[in-house]
Amino acid sequence: MELKIPKHIAIIMDGNGRWAKNKGKIRLEGHRAGAANLERILEESIKLGVKYLTVYAFSTENWKRPEMEVKGLMELFSGFLSSKKKTMKKQGIKLLVTGSKEGVSDSLLKKIEETEKYLENENNIVFNIAFNYGGRKEITDAINKILADEKREPGKPVTEEEVAKYMYRPDIPDPELVIRTSGEFRISNFLLWEIAYSEFYITDKYWPDFDEKELEKAILSFNKRDRRY
Ligand code: IPE
Ligand code: IPE
Ligand code: MG
Repeated sequence: MELKIPKHIAIIMDGNGRWAKNKGKIRLEGHRAGAANLERILEESIKLGVKYLTVYAFSTENWKRPEMEVKGLMELFSGFLSSKKKTMKKQGIKLLVTGSKEGVSDSLLKKIEETEKYLENENNIVFNIAFNYGGRKEITDAINKILADEKREPGKPVTEEEVAKYMYRPDIPDPELVIRTSGEFRISNFLLWEIAYSEFYITDKYWPDFDEKELEKAILSFNKRDRRY
């Protein structure tokens, strides 16, 4: 049987903290290992022919974590953008960072914009990082944009197509497969609108241990699902 590769895979990269704890390391070490693993999975996704890879890197709820951890995550993300941009260009990666700007420092916003611009013409894969992202926030932002559209006839009922157009990334097709690592059966405010018909795959592996073999297992499992709608 020929393996069907999902066009769009979305991943909730969870378990960095527990991975670190198990190894007697601090949480930030877990996040570092998680970032290194992201590179590995990104590379494998390109090899497999995945066209869109969305990863949940920081949620709107993650601001509630200890200040030191938040700071570490911001620095890690910023460092990832700076140190990987050249490699990403060589690999033909088009980068998008998706989420809210609220609370993000001006210097980081600037770096995000510059990196996206630097990679905007690449076309091997769209690598979409959900950063300061919340699904409820995305839907709420969409509603507010619809309300603020002066060209809209007041009181006209909103359609699903219209809402979809106001999501952060209307050009990205919905993910066929959502993966969550570290064994939690929760969506944690990830892509609420876009996952209406997605298949789910949950593994006990912590994110830093989710390697190429694990990705292959997830895709195999996806291939066995009977899609009925
Ligand atoms: C996921 O790992 C990474 C982020 C949320 C940034 P966690 O930090 O949530 O790891 P656990 O869930 O505590 O193990
Ligand atoms: C979801 O993981 C967010 C990211 C992976 C960035 P969390 O660890 O923050 O989610 P909860 O707390 O288990 O719901
Ligand atoms: Mg977690």
